[in-house]
Amino acid sequence: MGIENKNIEMGAFLVKKLTEIGIALSAEKNLSRLLEKIVEESRNFSNADAGTLYIMDEDEERLEFAIVQNDTMKIRMGGEAGPITWQPVPLKKEGKPNFSNVSSYVAITGTIVNIPDVYEAEGFDFSGTRAFDGGTGYRSKSMLVIPMKNKGNETIGVLQLINALDTETQKPIPFAPEYVDLVASLASQAAVAITNVRLYRDLERLFESFIETIATAIDEKSPYTAGHIRRVQELTIAIAKKMNEQEEGPFKDFFLNNDELHELRLAAWLHDIGKIVTPENIIDKSTKLEKVFDLANLIDTRYEIFKRDIAIKALEEKLALCKVGALEEMEFIRIGQKALEQYSVLEEEKEFIKTCNKSGEFMDDKKIERLKKIAANKWNYQGTEMPYLTDGEVYNLSIKKGSLTPEERKIIENHSLVTYKMLSKLPFPKKLRHVLKYAAAHHERLDGTGYPFGKKADQLSYPERIIAIADIFEALTAKDRPYKKPMSISTALDVLDSLRKSGHIDGDILDLFIKEKVYAEYADRELDPFQIDC
Ligand SMILES: [Fe+2]
Ligand SMILES: [Fe+2]
Repeated sequence: MGIENKNIEMGAFLVKKLTEIGIALSAEKNLSRLLEKIVEESRNFSNADAGTLYIMDEDEERLEFAIVQNDTMKIRMGGEAGPITWQPVPLKKEGKPNFSNVSSYVAITGTIVNIPDVYEAEGFDFSGTRAFDGGTGYRSKSMLVIPMKNKGNETIGVLQLINALDTETQKPIPFAPEYVDLVASLASQAAVAITNVRLYRDLERLFESFIETIATAIDEKSPYTAGHIRRVQELTIAIAKKMNEQEEGPFKDFFLNNDELHELRLAAWLHDIGKIVTPENIIDKSTKLEKVFDLANLIDTRYEIFKRDIAIKALEEKLALCKVGALEEMEFIRIGQKALEQYSVLEEEKEFIKTCNKSGEFMDDKKIERLKKIAANKWNYQGTEMPYLTDGEVYNLSIKKGSLTPEERKIIENHSLVTYKMLSKLPFPKKLRHVLKYAAAHHERLDGTGYPFGKKADQLSYPERIIAIADIFEALTAKDRPYKKPMSISTALDVLDSLRKSGHIDGDILDLFIKEKVYAEYADRELDPFQIDC
């Protein structure tokens, strides 16, 4: 076999190796690991003892140290080991391009620099390299510095390889010229991979920030639910992580990896997205008569009119007596007393209506009957006979429990169906394919009585059940709901326990929630001290 054939074989081998490295790089989605791999692979490829990878900062003003590797010195810095704190290399000095540093020179000019011995090289300032050598006893000799250019031919970083080692003697030798093009090609493949990973990461961040922005907007829609979504998402993850830790019991086979936890977190961020269409006045309805404002104020005013009508009537009667000259004191007193009696009846009625209007007031049949009786009274408004209370007022005041009419409750409940409809329009990537399912099921119940789809236990996975419990616990303990005082943890846990007994929520998750005090950290952060009673 001639030398030429050998060269061809070697060339084919290197190209094959390069292709393999390119494929490996493009498969790496983690930026830190990708950067490490780039330095490792290019060092392997060129048999270099050390290597540094610089990344251009966003303003394109400096090169930041991303990876430093040195086999002889057993140094591994950057990447997964955390950021390097060394001062970046400026691309400009006193307003002029920094050509004295070899890496910045390469970054600015886009050319490759191959130096057999940096101590003998001219044109560049290697004081930094010498200082490193002086401090460590290392001897930097040959150096290959290559710009990393992406598809748009923009330099996004610089790869610096130090001390190519002779395969037999392991002594530093110059980087062979035939390797230079191949390492340059590897560097551009690396640049493309970095650009792709960054693009992917930026898109992912943008998507997540967008979701959080929408969730915040929904929370902000109502001052009474501010922070609900954020808090549900925190509780959800706390529960899931605790379930992950279990090696025994019902969750021993349950495990969500980082991607799956991320998917669950997004689902929790999105669970109430359907509330975007729910009118605020229904979300915030704190009394039975509260529409855009509390209609109870109108009734109050109306009762003031009733009272004035009585006063006027009494005065008219007295005036009539005066006119006919019948100035009997007793009759005057009688008229006054009658007016006072009517006053107190009205006052009592007004107070009764006020009590009925409270969301916490349970309305039994007797109270509803009394309400109807009051409503049937008539008063004169601009010559027309009007009932004391309108049909709508009676309907709202007769709400047996809570502050919502069945129609308003339907509107509120509709939000989970809207969540489903909205999210089903989004083309979630495979990694996030369960977001829709998890997010839309937070009001489903294991016994099938939930909404929007009435799913049953066998259709509800653990992640769906976790969000449901987090949602209820947050709602019960929230400090900012208009229609109720915040519950203490023990009371909230009692309510959750009753929901478990009625077959609504998962008992195993609840047991873990209570036993492991999964809520503890959350409570310290989010609840008032008086609520934290267990
Ligand atoms: Fe909800
Ligand atoms: Fe919710």
